[in-house]
Amino acid sequence: MSDRWDATSVIIEKRDGNELPADAIQWFITNYTDGVVADEQAAALCMAVFLNGMTAAELHTWTEAMIDTGDRADLSGIVRPTVDKHSTGGVGDKVSLILIPLMIACGASVPQLAGRGLGHTGGTIDKLQSHPGFDPFLTPEQLIQQSNTIGGVFAAAGSRIAPADAKLYQLRDTTGTVASIPLIASSIMSKKIAGGTQNLVLDVKVGAGAFMTNVDDATLLAETMVQIGKDAGVNTSALLTQMDVPLGKMVGNTLEVDESIEVMQGGGPADLIDVTIALAEEMCRLAGLDADPAAVLASGDTLAIYNDIVRGHSGDPEAPLPRAANTFDVVAPQAGWIDSMNALTVGIASMRLGAGRARKEDTIEYGAGIECVHKPGEKVEAGDTIFRLYADDESRFELASTLCLESLGFSDAEPAVRPMVLKRIT
Ligand code: URA
Repeated sequence: MSDRWDATSVIIEKRDGNELPADAIQWFITNYTDGVVADEQAAALCMAVFLNGMTAAELHTWTEAMIDTGDRADLSGIVRPTVDKHSTGGVGDKVSLILIPLMIACGASVPQLAGRGLGHTGGTIDKLQSHPGFDPFLTPEQLIQQSNTIGGVFAAAGSRIAPADAKLYQLRDTTGTVASIPLIASSIMSKKIAGGTQNLVLDVKVGAGAFMTNVDDATLLAETMVQIGKDAGVNTSALLTQMDVPLGKMVGNTLEVDESIEVMQGGGPADLIDVTIALAEEMCRLAGLDADPAAVLASGDTLAIYNDIVRGHSGDPEAPLPRAANTFDVVAPQAGWIDSMNALTVGIASMRLGAGRARKEDTIEYGAGIECVHKPGEKVEAGDTIFRLYADDESRFELASTLCLESLGFSDAEPAVRPMVLKRIT
């Protein structure tokens, strides 16, 4: 590797708006991962990238350099076509819990590398750890074996998958540099490319509860990630889906497991089903599978596969789930149509009830969270329960109920129905 560079010179190049040469990027990412470059220097470079962006060539080199800090998973031992899905993060987003067993029932293998929640967004691994005993860590051999027998896994990306990202993401989270298109794109795609899937569908969330709050930015993020995937030989496409309002009615780990099981049993809210089916259809298209996900979901086969995956991770799907000790009802302050419900504010309220982490090392209460009893598009009378809050510690209810009320907007007329899937990027 080039010894021409030092951290300060790389930062200054980017600060001044110049395109970084490939060897500068490779030097910086490798040496940050190895502990030679200090956190404050990496933070300065991330801020320079946040402010000045990256060219396509820089982004390509940055992503490859992040992948090269670890291993590339070898999934060649998996017999069926592999598909994976990644969401850019939202509130009440439990889609993976239903989608992975659904795709297995449609004929794919889904060796999903899932993540933990941070800040107001939830993580699939946290939700699954509501099941007593669930262990997300599998050896590469176990991952291949379970993908061939049961059809898929919900595995935590191990420490050898793009270790640069684990360090950089934590740093970005505390330095105001998460919501940068090149930094998000390289973070997500380095893990997914290193994870080894053949086909990948990205669920790019748009709206108040997402990192991208408008369609233009979300489109650019989606196009950027799709291009990175294709350049790396992964068959990639993206759907832009709505995240102004929490997805489904439940926010919080155990509550979201309950709602996912309800969908797999044939019930559940329409918005959650719509997004899940749209993503499944896109995954079938990419993987060349001739299946009808809506019919497969209705057949009820998905829940048995979900239970098998949980057992494959040493979890007990029959064991009682952890429940919060207390509930508190937040009632409508006025009559009218609920017009809006800010997903970010509801996500923060849920985190404050104990369902999420403000910092990576925080512990979570699996039973804590929020049930959105009524959602936008529904009419309420003053005094009707709109939110039911769940927490072990009753002192958490005051702030969370204030936030929940702040999240709401009302109108006198029935609001227009917003489509869940906004765009498809291929
Ligand atoms: N999810 C990731 O994995 N990385 C980001 O930067 C943002 C969301």
